[in-house]
Amino acid sequence: IKKIAVLTSGGDAPGMNAAIRAVVRACTYYRIDCIGVYRGYEGLIEGDFKDMSARDVSNTINKGGTILKSARSQEFRTEEGREKAYKQLKDAGIGALVVIGGDGTFTGAMKLIEEFNFPVVGIPGTIDNDIYGTDNTIGYDTALNTVVEVIDKIRDTASSHNRLFFIEVMGRDAGFIALNTGIGAGAEEILIPEKDLGIDKLEESLDASREKGKSSSIVVVSEGDKIGKNVFELADYIKEKYPFYDIRVSVLGHMQRGGSPSCYDRVLASRLGVAAVEALLDRSTGVMVGVTNNQVTTVGLNKAIKMNHDINRELLKVAEITSV
Ligand code: F6P
Repeated sequence: IKKIAVLTSGGDAPGMNAAIRAVVRACTYYRIDCIGVYRGYEGLIEGDFKDMSARDVSNTINKGGTILKSARSQEFRTEEGREKAYKQLKDAGIGALVVIGGDGTFTGAMKLIEEFNFPVVGIPGTIDNDIYGTDNTIGYDTALNTVVEVIDKIRDTASSHNRLFFIEVMGRDAGFIALNTGIGAGAEEILIPEKDLGIDKLEESLDASREKGKSSSIVVVSEGDKIGKNVFELADYIKEKYPFYDIRVSVLGHMQRGGSPSCYDRVLASRLGVAAVEALLDRSTGVMVGVTNNQVTTVGLNKAIKMNHDINRELLKVAEITSV
């Protein structure tokens, strides 16, 4: 392999730049050319490429977002789109590809491998942490810290006004952000898609906290939770049953994806960027590099996208015990 391309796709995540930087610099270190692909698979189809040298990624390790930009490409879902992308790769003399993203990104990568036998290695980059084969995805730690910081601020106003806050956090179908920030920010209840708490349990919990004399409460709701149709409807329902509660809803939204990456995410991204280039040089393909028990590991992309991450029962218990 003489030339490796790198792209970021799907939702951006803090630390993606640190991963791009590590890929570019590992290429320089191993004397391989590196190409940056703009806008994920969209830019791959259009040949939106840029030669990347070690200096092109200076001053990026601390930046949120992705300097290569990202997209969710519809055209790449079609065979014609992928044909075009493959042709662009061949015409540019690219021998292998590193994709940084989540399950959608890896699904696209598997198609390139299946249809054209083109070598691809994946790096997990998403705030959701919904990828199997790595303890953490790049961006997850930063998002946790951002969310905890914001909930702390909301707690100040919740306690000043004796209010009940429903705070919706991201995570798509996964409750990792909700469960961990709920514990970290001292939430009364945490609603996650993996465990159907049911409205009764929430009501019990609210009754109990009133009896215990708690004057304000925070309920963290994962966006994928199915207890109510959405967090506003859930809040309306509770308001009807408990008219004495002064209820507010706060949807944290895309702020959770922004900001400077934490040191943890920078180190993780640097390790995985180097590991991805080394994996390709070792002729690996169809794998994702991850860090498990502090060791760099690889797992098949097909496994990585099957989030069979069981929710951690111990964490659920800690959440229950620490909110009595
Ligand atoms: O996958 C990251 C994520 O932020 C999810 O948590 C969320 O459900 C989704 O992306 C939002 O996507 P978009 O930025 O397209 O609105």
